[in-house]
Formats: sequence, structure tokens, C-alpha cells
Amino acid sequence: MKYGKRNATSTFLLLFFLGLYLLPHRLNHPPGPKPWPIIGNLNLIGPLPYRSIHELSQKYGPIMQLRFGSFPVVVGSSVEMVKHMVWAPYGPYWRHVRKICLTELFNTKRLDSYEYIRVEERHAFLSGLYTSCGKPITVKDHFSNFTLNNITRIVLGKKLCDESESKKLKNMLDEGSFLNGVLNIGDLIPWINFLDLQGYVKRMKALRNKTDLFLKCELDEHIARRQDHSKEFIPKDIVDILLQLADDPNPNLKLSRDSIKSITMDLIVGGVESSTITTEWALSELLKQPQKFEQATEELDRVIGRNRWIEEKDIPKLPYIKSIIYETMRMHPVSPLLAPRLARENCKIYEYDIGQGTQVLVNVWSIGRDPTLWDAPNEFRPERFLGRDIDVGGQHFALLPFGSGRRMCPGYSLGLKLIESGLANLLHGFTWKLPNHMNPFDLNMDEVWGLTVPRKNPLVAVAQPRLPIHLYTV
Ligand code: HEM
Repeated sequence: MKYGKRNATSTFLLLFFLGLYLLPHRLNHPPGPKPWPIIGNLNLIGPLPYRSIHELSQKYGPIMQLRFGSFPVVVGSSVEMVKHMVWAPYGPYWRHVRKICLTELFNTKRLDSYEYIRVEERHAFLSGLYTSCGKPITVKDHFSNFTLNNITRIVLGKKLCDESESKKLKNMLDEGSFLNGVLNIGDLIPWINFLDLQGYVKRMKALRNKTDLFLKCELDEHIARRQDHSKEFIPKDIVDILLQLADDPNPNLKLSRDSIKSITMDLIVGGVESSTITTEWALSELLKQPQKFEQATEELDRVIGRNRWIEEKDIPKLPYIKSIIYETMRMHPVSPLLAPRLARENCKIYEYDIGQGTQVLVNVWSIGRDPTLWDAPNEFRPERFLGRDIDVGGQHFALLPFGSGRRMCPGYSLGLKLIESGLANLLHGFTWKLPNHMNPFDLNMDEVWGLTVPRKNPLVAVAQPRLPIHLYTV
């Protein structure tokens, strides 16, 4: 009996130590708040998620792990962490599309060839503004027409002249932006998704059908035009180029019809809203600080004079205008958490284990407010960029408004050109005032979260011409 008891004890110890040995090594996940069952840490995320995540990173550090419903999410909020995160590998489809964007759609030669479109649209935009001088206008509506016309001419080869057609597209973009920012409970708790408690899935499906129809019409029009001119056909817009690639025998360039549709929509969505809201934020910040406004117009008067508009080639001579744009992008990045990356396999960031399937977010908003990188980070001070060797091309990790690494914005040169000459001419051609003698101090600067982060209340202002009248007629 005694012998049997001793035997049982040693068998138990053997199994215990064997068990310990065979157990997977404890994973060292980044620190983070303890998740609740089902909702994870969603109770800690407010309507402006990048701000909530910023607050959490103050407590848990520059790399932290959260849980959104049942999904693990890792967030990097410092330059050091971001350097490791933005180069995460991504799938072959995106690699392919990205290569096409960079080599075929937005190379320097192609961008230069579209300059005449940007010039024509800029003149039309400024002349249109002139006709609205003296009365309060919603600045965003005018600027978004300018960017929409530029992008649709470059991508689709035409302006959506018909008012209802362009309104339809704008509504689709607004709905897409809204739905992108919502928290769909079913995505986080997949087993109740079929209930569609908030009705978002229904709205997403309706939007998908509308955009699909829009893109189908565009593609069919382009295909018909190609067939009409089959021999001497010269591609004139991005859809033409994509259709040409679809016929390419080289499998590295080949594209399906669905890919063409989705690239076309990504370019329209990515191009229109981001340039518009950056300009709206820049003008809002300047209206709040009239002395910075004066500094900008002083530079424009000194370098350009009052007898002509500003051309793209003038921009390098306007360092203060460039600084206003960088400072706006630092304080109001259009995509504060960048595009989410997915860890495709188990990996390590520093000493931390990141599990396969974890979503990786980069909080560029936090980096833009990091007091170790920026003096008085909550203040709009364009002059901080004067004489500083920094740009927004994805190499300076303290300032990443276009992202960085493998998923960096493919349209960044075009986006910058639209903002630089658009904003410079808005400031050069018009004096701007808030309506009804509003005190700049009272201008509300609240944000709203969607696909991008625009002003909650669109900026309304009154413009007056600043240049000789003959310059405003097209
Ligand atoms: C002020 C102008 C713009 C800003 C601030 C901006 C910003 C961004 C950012 C932050 C990303 C995500 C990058 C990342 O996660 O690393 C992005 C992606 C993208 N942008 Fe832009 N963008 C601008 C203009 C444009 C324009 C003009 C186009 C095209 C005509 C464009 C097309 C795209 C597309 C297609 C993507 C998705 C790329 C992907 O998911 O891999 N953007 N943009």
C-alpha cells in the first residue's frame, strides 16, 4: 500500500514536469488594459478612437495590445515602434496594385502630363469662388468640387458635368466615409452579425451596389471607346491605362475587371476627401490666428506679387506656405491610425510577441503630438518647419501624413500638388473672414471620425478678391 502511494506520487510529479515542459512557452504580449469578455477593450474607445488610443498609450507605453471585440490589435505610438511596423509584409494582390500605381499611374512623366488639367481646374475653381465673394460659403463644397473634377478627369477622363451625377458620386463618397468610421457590432462579435442590429450591413450592401453600377457604366463606356478606335487608340486616363494592362500578356501586370473597378474607386475615394479636408483644416487654423495669415500673404506678395496667380513651379519659393501645409498635416492627419496592417504570421516587435492575425495600427496622431519631438505640440506653429530638413515622403517618421513603407499613399505627389497650389491660390487670391463678425477664438475645431477626420462643422467663411479683377475671369 505504502509502495503504491509512493509510486502514484512519483507518476504525478513526472507528469507535472512533463506537462510544464510540453506547455507552449508563455508569450510576451505588449502591455495593455485587461479585456472584458465579448467587447474586449471597446468600452475604452470613444467616438475619436485615435484620441482614446493616445490616452491609453500614455499609460501603457509606445507599444500596447488591445482587444476590439474578439480581435487582437497592437498599436504603435512612437517613432521607434512605427519604424518596425510600417514595413509589415502584405499580400500579393496589394503588392501588384501598388507596383502598378507607382510605375504606371503616378510616375513623374504621367503626373506632368496631367498638369494642364490641374491648371484648368484651378482657374475654374478660383473664378467660381470669385462669383461667390461677399457672402458666407461652405469652403469644403468649393474645394471638393475642385479635387473631384481633377481626380475624375485624371482617373475617368471626364468631369461629371451633370450636377446630379457629381452629387450622386459625392453622396456615395460621404456614405462610404461614414460607414468606414462606424463600429459595426457584428464585425466584433461575428455570431450576431446576421442580426445587423445597427442596419450598417444593409447600408453597406446598398452602397456596394450603387458604386458597382457606377463603375460598371464607366468601364463599359471606356471599353466601347477603345473598340471604336481599336487601331489608333491612345490611353488618355487611368481607366484606359488599367484596361490596357488587363490585356497585357505579361502576368506581372495583368488585372481582372473587378480589380480595375476597385482600383478606380480607391483612387477616387483616396484622392478627393483627403486633399479637401487638409485644405479646410489649414484655412481654419489660419482664420484662428490672423497673424499667421498675414505672414502667409506677406510671403505671397513678396515672392509672387499681385499681378498673377501662383503656378506649381512657384511652390519651392514659398517656404512659409509649405510649412503651413506640413503643420496642418502634423496636427490634422487625414488618417490618424493609417491603414490597418495585419500580422500574416507570428512575429516579434522588440521583445514582444505578436500573434498571427493581429491587426497592427500606427497612431501617427500621437506622434504628431509627442512633446519629445515637437515643442508646444498642441499649437499651430508653421514656422517650426522653416529651415528644417523634413518632408512628408515617408522617410521622416515624426511626420507621416501619407503613411510610410509598403502601404504608403500611392497618390501622394498628386495630393500634395493639389493642396499646395490650391491653398496658396486661395490665400493669394482672396481675403478671408469668418461670417457675422465671429471672433476667431470662437471658431469650433471639433473633429469627426470616418474614413478621414474632417471638421465636425464644415468651415463657413466669406471671401473678398485681393487681385486685379481681370485675373478672375476664365
Ligand atoms: C492630402 C492628400 C492625401 C493624403 C494626406 C493621403 C493620405 C493617405 C494615407 C495616410 C494612406 C494610408 C497609408 C499607410 O497606411 O501607410 C493613404 C492611402 C491611399 N491613398 Fe492617399 N492621401 C492623399 C491623397 C491621395 C490621392 C490624390 C490619391 C489618388 C488619386 C490617393 C490614393 C490613395 C490610395 C489608393 C490609398 C490606399 C493604399 C493602400 O491601401 O495600400 N491618396 N493615403
